[in-house]
Amino acid sequence: MFEQCTIRGVQFVSARFLAPMAGYTHSAFRRLLGELGGCGALWTEMLDARQVIAEDFRKSPWVKRRPSDGFTFYQLMARAGDPLDRVLGLLAAQGVEAVDLNLACDAFSIRACEAGSSLFEDLAALARVARESRRHWPGLLTAKVRLGRQRPDWEIRFAERLRLLEDAGFDALVVHPRFFEDKFRRRARLELLPWVATQTRLPLIANGDLAGVESVAAHLPCLESASGIMIGRMAIVCPWLFACWDGAPREVDHAAVWGRLCDYVAEDFPAAAALRRVQMFTKYFAANFAFGHRFRVEIANAPNLEQARERAHEFFARSPQMLAHRTVAGL
Ligand SMILES: Cc1cc2nc3c(=O)[nH]c(=O)nc-3n(C[C@H](O)[C@H](O)[C@H](O)COP(=O)(O)O)c2cc1C
Repeated sequence: MFEQCTIRGVQFVSARFLAPMAGYTHSAFRRLLGELGGCGALWTEMLDARQVIAEDFRKSPWVKRRPSDGFTFYQLMARAGDPLDRVLGLLAAQGVEAVDLNLACDAFSIRACEAGSSLFEDLAALARVARESRRHWPGLLTAKVRLGRQRPDWEIRFAERLRLLEDAGFDALVVHPRFFEDKFRRRARLELLPWVATQTRLPLIANGDLAGVESVAAHLPCLESASGIMIGRMAIVCPWLFACWDGAPREVDHAAVWGRLCDYVAEDFPAAAALRRVQMFTKYFAANFAFGHRFRVEIANAPNLEQARERAHEFFARSPQMLAHRTVAGL
């Protein structure tokens, strides 16, 4: 299932991808995931196009890359008027191979910048950003979309935007089939993917509520029109998920995985930001355990990283009961 795919001549030996998640898919998590077996390709968290220019590619946890990370898409939050020539030129000079345009984020702060969902809505601005992106980016170029706003004519508007991206020369689309207003409520409407595929020639990467081999198998008829699948939240819960896809479930040392994430975050982030990142990771990682909410709260209340490590040590020393069925619903 999704063993491989080729997008614009780039062959992915596994077409199972890590979704961009702001606050989560930073350099430390990418390092952990790579060391645990990696995946077909991974996405950085959304990067403000204007800020990318100021980043130090050797140090910044947002843009820094290690050889073990694997094929990485840099996801941009861009709006009309951004200096895309400079931004994309800089990414190319840094050896970046693939860029993704965020057209899906509906957070207020992103809409206020006229990026994400706001850019998706504004056809003229979208056309400009799409054309400029392609003009200044010779590498692999994708866009991540939702279904748009839920209104009677959403299908027409959605199809119009897919055509625009296809005509602009994008190479593939990541489709998270929820409406903007859905946020993460309701379920992803994966059953719409075959229809989406009839609206564009671009390869589709399906995303939303896919939690691993079983859920992919369960949705296979809907996913047959996709070239790849992308997993977000469950990959934070189980960063070994991609590596275990085809084989027997491997013995996982949860304490060691948590500790490594903590070490890598401490290496890449300043102390206060590091604690916050570890707390955020623990919110999802705690979904592995029967009483994970207690672990989550203990770490969320830790005043510093040292205390967080001590609390985690005590938690794991109690051999916490694992959950057979993990869920990210509500997370
Ligand atoms: C905390 C969080 C942060 C996210 N950040 C981003 C982001 O930076 N860019 C993006 O395109 N999507 C972002 N997403 C959406 C995910 O990429 C993905 O579309 C969504 O979680 C559905 O996939 P899943 O069910 O596998 O988690 C984020 C989602 C969450 C929960």
